[in-house]
Amino acid sequence: MTGILPHGGQLINRIAEGSERERLLAAAEQSPKIAINTWTISDLDLIGVGAFSPLTGFMNEQDYRRVLADMRLSDGTVWSIPITLAVDEELSQRLQIGGQVALVGEEDQVIYGVIKVESIYRVDQEQEALSVFKTSDPEHPGVRKLNERPSVYVGGPVQVLNRPKPAKFEDFYFDPRETRAQFEKNGWRTVVGFQTRNPVHRAHEYIQKSAMEIVDALFLNPLVGETKSDDVPADVRMKSYLELLKHYYPEDRTFLGVFPAAMRYAGPREAIFHAIVRKNYGCTHFIVGRDHAGVGDYYGTYEAQEIFKQFTPGELTITPLFFEHSFFCKKCGNMASSKTCPHPKEEHLTLSGTKVRALLRDGVCPPPEFTRPEVAQILIEGMVEHQPAQ
Ligand code: ADX
Repeated sequence: MTGILPHGGQLINRIAEGSERERLLAAAEQSPKIAINTWTISDLDLIGVGAFSPLTGFMNEQDYRRVLADMRLSDGTVWSIPITLAVDEELSQRLQIGGQVALVGEEDQVIYGVIKVESIYRVDQEQEALSVFKTSDPEHPGVRKLNERPSVYVGGPVQVLNRPKPAKFEDFYFDPRETRAQFEKNGWRTVVGFQTRNPVHRAHEYIQKSAMEIVDALFLNPLVGETKSDDVPADVRMKSYLELLKHYYPEDRTFLGVFPAAMRYAGPREAIFHAIVRKNYGCTHFIVGRDHAGVGDYYGTYEAQEIFKQFTPGELTITPLFFEHSFFCKKCGNMASSKTCPHPKEEHLTLSGTKVRALLRDGVCPPPEFTRPEVAQILIEGMVEHQPAQ
């Protein structure tokens, strides 16, 4: 393999094919079943394609406990977010260590995969919340999700038997193997990954393009898995990214592909996780701006940058690129940050997410120095389309 090595050294592949798949499918029909929701289906698939390398399955107890305690797997490899399979207490009592269990979509009854049960363990969700989210406040969207799950986890290696089918924008789903091949084919030796769950506003564009000045290409990798209900829906965002790329980005140095994972809103810990996963997709650099993966006031503005100091560059190998809070400065007449602009706050155009949403809901474009008009137009249309029925 060329390019940056995946996390742990090897790109994991847990997608079963051919007769092996047939055999596992037949066995799965007869085995106990765990119903899994869209979130867990996406985790399973991301393990399968190696996006979560070196994970080969849902975390066993030892890995889980060490991840909570010191952001490492039991063998010492850096890992910051638990990737776990929660099961009902009653069902867990019927499972056996060493047995194979089918993982079945709770809505469509598709057998997405199988897990070989290596551990069944009870967790303290409050402890997990405090370790991962730094809060146990049930208002925190990540904590809320965690509290909805049962508190017994099943760990062990998985095999993927069926892949989830994207409802839209199928052409923008790439497995790590494919992005790596594409980067290589394009002759890109350095690629910066950009995580986002938002439309690309001018501040995002500014930090992306600042990074593009020093690397060969940008991998725009919007997260399109589960997000909280007031985030802009992924299909609207996708339309806006395509429009923006068409008009303002060099085609031969930009690559758009989705990241089908759920958003955890875990701030600093999620920044580490996001960086590791983008390394698996073949990125050599990763952008971490202000309040990365944050929500509300749970995390300090630069906490998601500071957390990187806990690891050596050799442990992560992907290079984080840190950016200060960026804005348009009326006096400078361009995008800037406190690192490059000497003017007072009054000269800076900053709008809160709430304010921007209110403008768009009223059909008003935010200032072009904040959002490109082409993007704003798509967001306004999206607001109308996704209006809840009266
Ligand atoms: S996130 O939850 O996916 O991090 P968002 O899509 O808003 O949210 O951010 C994507 C990336 O852009 C993150 O690295 C974030 O820190 C960065 N970012 C967002 N807005 C700004 C800004 N105004 N200045 C600097 N960095 C920013």
